[in-house]
Amino acid sequence: MAEERIVSGNQMDGDWEQDKSLRPRVLNEYIGQGKICNTLAIFIEAAMARGESLDHVLLYGPPGLGKTTLANIIANELNVNIRITSGPAIERPGDLAAILTALEPRDVLFIDEIHRLNRTAEEILYSAMEDFSLDIVIGKGPSARSVRITLPPFTLVGATTRAGQLTSPLRDRFGMINRLEFYAVTELEQIVARSGKLLGVVMDAAGVTEIARRSRGTPRIANRLLKRVRDYAQVRAGGMITLDVANEALNLLEIDALGLDRVDRKLLDTIVGKFGGGPVGLDTLAATIGEDPLTIEDVYEPFLLQLGFLNRTPRGRVATPVVYRHLGLKVPMEQNGLFSDT
Ligand code: ADE
Repeated sequence: MAEERIVSGNQMDGDWEQDKSLRPRVLNEYIGQGKICNTLAIFIEAAMARGESLDHVLLYGPPGLGKTTLANIIANELNVNIRITSGPAIERPGDLAAILTALEPRDVLFIDEIHRLNRTAEEILYSAMEDFSLDIVIGKGPSARSVRITLPPFTLVGATTRAGQLTSPLRDRFGMINRLEFYAVTELEQIVARSGKLLGVVMDAAGVTEIARRSRGTPRIANRLLKRVRDYAQVRAGGMITLDVANEALNLLEIDALGLDRVDRKLLDTIVGKFGGGPVGLDTLAATIGEDPLTIEDVYEPFLLQLGFLNRTPRGRVATPVVYRHLGLKVPMEQNGLFSDT
């Protein structure tokens, strides 16, 4: 049977519960992603006024930016249940059929990592999304027959870190396709301050800013760093998070001024030190630093690309001059003809 989580379920661990408690529950509490929130608010209000299900929503972007949070908010704003599952958890078409037939009218079905849905399950989704129906084949061989089951109208919220891997028939069936962006430091400051209040942590403004600045544009990281800095403040500094306390704690965690961690730096160091600044292929890079290529692509690279530290070229990854400055190295005049710098 597919792994499925219904929000009233009781198998969640403490960390997940605490993380969940920091998540905004309604659009008005949500900080950042302004365009997405504004358009969602309009479409939700329109669907509610008509008494219809909201059109299907695709959310894509790097991990930790709030795709699951937004899915929960959509269900909450629509005042319906949310069923949560993920692409890899749906092993057989029957798993998906079981979930779809158990939905109540206007419910939200959230499929995380939807790009990892297998082909047969994906094909079942087409008619489910388009006309709320399910074609099931009963029996085998000459006696096999197809039965059509009508489903309640529902909203599929799909989330993926890799929109490019979705097939176009699936992508085309979403009424709204939203790309989540990295958060600005000012937005992360608001998130850290809000989470701090919810956790009962005492912080000054400079402490909040320092955590926000080192969070890689990502609320999940901001909340994680906040909890670790809180631990440090509690044990070493009488409980209050100031700039100095945040700096000491984050330095201890080996998070640098831009929010880069040990793996980011190892990746950059390797491109510069072992491959002359690149280009180096993803698989070679992954093998050299002992990381999974997909993790590098989905988790580490998006922020490094956003910082302008990396370029993806047809011949592989290339470190830009800013990397040399960040690592405290001299910028070469010219590197493999790919850039020149003063
Ligand atoms: N916690 C995590 N993400 C958040 C967001 N976007 N707004 C408010 N609180 C959050």
